[in-house]
Amino acid sequence: MNHLNSLADLEVPAAPVAQQPAAEKITLVKARGSLVWDDAGREYIDCTAQAWSNNLGANDPRVVEAAVAQLREMTHIRPNFESIPHKNLVAKLREISVGSLNRTGFALHGSLAGEMAMKLAFKNRPHAQNLVVLQDGYHGRSLATLGASWPHPNNPFLAIQPRFTRVPHPYPYRARMGMDPEAESQLCLGLLEDTIVKGVDGPVAAVMMEPIQGNGGHIEFPRSYYKGVREICDRHGVLLIFDEVQTGFGRMGTMWAAQYYDVTPDIIVFGKGVGGGFPLAGILADDRLKWFDEGEEALTFGHFPVSLAAACATIDAIRDDKLCEKAKDSGEYVTERLLEMQTRRKLIGDVRCPGLMASIELVTDRVTKAPARHASQEVYRRGVELGVLFGESRYAGLGNLIKVKPPLDIERPLLARALDVLDEVLGAIEEEGK
Ligand SMILES: Cc1ncc(COP(=O)(O)O)c(C=O)c1O
Repeated sequence: MNHLNSLADLEVPAAPVAQQPAAEKITLVKARGSLVWDDAGREYIDCTAQAWSNNLGANDPRVVEAAVAQLREMTHIRPNFESIPHKNLVAKLREISVGSLNRTGFALHGSLAGEMAMKLAFKNRPHAQNLVVLQDGYHGRSLATLGASWPHPNNPFLAIQPRFTRVPHPYPYRARMGMDPEAESQLCLGLLEDTIVKGVDGPVAAVMMEPIQGNGGHIEFPRSYYKGVREICDRHGVLLIFDEVQTGFGRMGTMWAAQYYDVTPDIIVFGKGVGGGFPLAGILADDRLKWFDEGEEALTFGHFPVSLAAACATIDAIRDDKLCEKAKDSGEYVTERLLEMQTRRKLIGDVRCPGLMASIELVTDRVTKAPARHASQEVYRRGVELGVLFGESRYAGLGNLIKVKPPLDIERPLLARALDVLDEVLGAIEEEGK
């Protein structure tokens, strides 16, 4: 009956799964570290790090001071001019980058950084008009990145989007036809290579993928997949883009997922955690690639100096406070706790925790692995009542994921409390379902 576990047997929602109950949005007024407060003074442990962006705890005084100092000097500098925070940040990113990914471009949103990466790929493969992406990928909400992302059913913007070719990817917990995850990884690599060679009209400029699919359901691939994709790209002269908007800046227990999986892409897209709570994103590109010519990549606020100054302070703090090590350590603690919980809570189908990118997939039945969507909505809702904000799947995936992704420097008692609440809530939901 293993084949029942395959994704194709599940009813995948045709529209985004509305995870948040229709209740009014919480109005947040204050944040410090891993805590946030609402307008009624209620305190919450923030296991969402505000869309996984506060890798460094919220409102870190070092970041706030750096931003305020820059605000006092000059709020806006157009990218035609050089600026001190730009020079400093370029140098810092070079220090923490991988391989020869030494060229930097900036934007204020991960989506636009993703488009910058696509443009650079086309610039360097001028005769190629195709991009290959993975089926459960998420790269943003600009027109182009939306086309490369979930949810693809019911997409009203299709007519004015570039065409992407989606390939299947491994999903170890739900491997096709009950396959061994390693065999499924080889199958998916074969399908990727087939697609590049004969599945699209004309050459492929790049394969773009998240090392771990964040919004698609925290799907991590077998290690062989990452190396295999790199080899296939090299064999066919295709560039490899890692979208590290979620996995970058320490979330995995390493600065980059590229280091965690020991595979160097040609371009990394980054965002979220880099700005310490200020809007910033960008790309790191191999310095052997041709860079943009004047005017090809020009965003008015692309070098917003306040965000750049905040990012310099954030990177210093990530290094000074050893946040990669902390993420690894806290991630191990969370994994241990969740695996123990899984022995008692039947709703937990799978536990996935590389670094502090932790999550559980809830199922109504461990044999069929049918997604427990209602239960995950309830976990979210009851978590709020008990003062914990858990992450949930919103745009994609099966709508049955609960994420524990607080700031990387969360204090152990707060993390323990959040997991106690998760355990309590799961227990109550299971009890009521009997
Ligand atoms: C992997 C990934 N790429 C890109 C984006 C888009 O970033 P932004 O919302 O800053 O445009 C996101 C946002 O969730 C993401 O998770």
